[in-house]
Amino acid sequence: MQKIKCENNQLFVPDQPTIPFIPGDGIGPEVWEATQAIVDAAVQKAYHGQKAITWMEIAAGEKSAQNSGEWLPQATLDTIREYIVAIKGPLTTPVGGGIRSLNVTLRKTLDLFVCLRPIRWFEGVAAPVREPQLIDLIIFRENTEDLYAGIEYAAGTPENQIMLDFFKEKFPKDFAKIRFPENVGLGVKPISKQGSERLVRAAINYAIKNHRKTVTLVHKGNIMKFTEGAFRNWGYDLAESEFSSMVFTKRQWETIKKEEGEAVADEYKKEALRNNKIWINDVITDAAFQQVLLYPADFDVIASTNLNGDYLSDAIAAQVGGIGIAPGANINMDTQVAIFEATHGTAPAIAGKDIANPSSLLLSAEMMLIYIGWTEAAEMILSALKKTIKQKFLTADLALYVPNAELMGTKAFTEKIIKNMD
Ligand code: NAI
Repeated sequence: MQKIKCENNQLFVPDQPTIPFIPGDGIGPEVWEATQAIVDAAVQKAYHGQKAITWMEIAAGEKSAQNSGEWLPQATLDTIREYIVAIKGPLTTPVGGGIRSLNVTLRKTLDLFVCLRPIRWFEGVAAPVREPQLIDLIIFRENTEDLYAGIEYAAGTPENQIMLDFFKEKFPKDFAKIRFPENVGLGVKPISKQGSERLVRAAINYAIKNHRKTVTLVHKGNIMKFTEGAFRNWGYDLAESEFSSMVFTKRQWETIKKEEGEAVADEYKKEALRNNKIWINDVITDAAFQQVLLYPADFDVIASTNLNGDYLSDAIAAQVGGIGIAPGANINMDTQVAIFEATHGTAPAIAGKDIANPSSLLLSAEMMLIYIGWTEAAEMILSALKKTIKQKFLTADLALYVPNAELMGTKAFTEKIIKNMD
């Protein structure tokens, strides 16, 4: 059994790596079966047997709960840590039992601090905007902090009362800002310097490696100064100190503008861009939602806090009609541990009916192949999928909106993609 290894932040991938997978619940097993078949075909075609993946199923979700009583066994977490790269289908969120979400638990336990969501349009997919081809961006969403930290106190509980009493005694002015203190849910929004820095660092490194031109920090710092605003400031600080020779920031532009005028600041910016420096700017969240609709080409790499990133990912994916096929990955850039995943849920209503679209998990697998350096196989998958969609061979979710589409079941769609690799 050959294992992927990480030394000094670098991945070492053997020719026959073992990769753990979780098929998932609901439509998970169907979309996984399709994905595995397509990936294996692409790897075979790209490397003629010289490279191959040994798949290893690991337990999580409903199936695991039925077999062992555990939704997310410790062994699964240990295996992912040991094998470094894993892939998963959607998992049912258990109701009750103290587990909020298996995905959140996986991200937190393995400290997968980047949620990566590339968003691009596929020719042939119906989109609600006029020029969906202008969207080709990647979102770096912080994955471990913010209101998602899970620190919440329900109204009327003793814990909530302790917090309220504390505020009343220590910070009476702030306490007075709570409009209805007798019945109020409370949540905590931790945003740290380290958490912001590692996320922004990952986004800038990605931009450099992939020849992207802009990194946009999206935040709501005009209102939440010491969390969202701090994210922005720490992001700029990091860009200007760690990447000083490779970036030019809007904050630097503003300083020059103040001291020497706008024309001079613009000259500096032009010169920086001529030298292929990355433009680091920031946009307030609500403006970002507006601008990505009006000026989508201005966005390239987005780095954002957890909640903003969550909203933005789905909203922009919807803009290109790709909400059901958008891929995702959760990565720790230090340990390199990464889980690639379908971004949709278990779709229980269509499970087992050969209807589901496997593209989200497939594109996640394509990201995974790029991550392990098997770019030839990744490219084969991407071009075969593009070709299949362009030929209007579509699963029901996409076919519904495309005139004269040929409706495909999951299996038939999979076969078309494999055939389109020839
Ligand atoms: P969902 O994504 O499962 O379904 C929303 C709608 O999209 C449904 O109409 C569904 O039929 C359709 N859909 C989703 N994926 C599709 C695909 N591949 N092909 C064709 N149609 C597709 O979201 P919902 O109903 O809110 O959640 C169902 C379960 O999934 C819940 O237990 C939820 O917690 C879980 N979930 C898990 C996620 C994960 O593991 N990453 C993400 C989101 C939800």
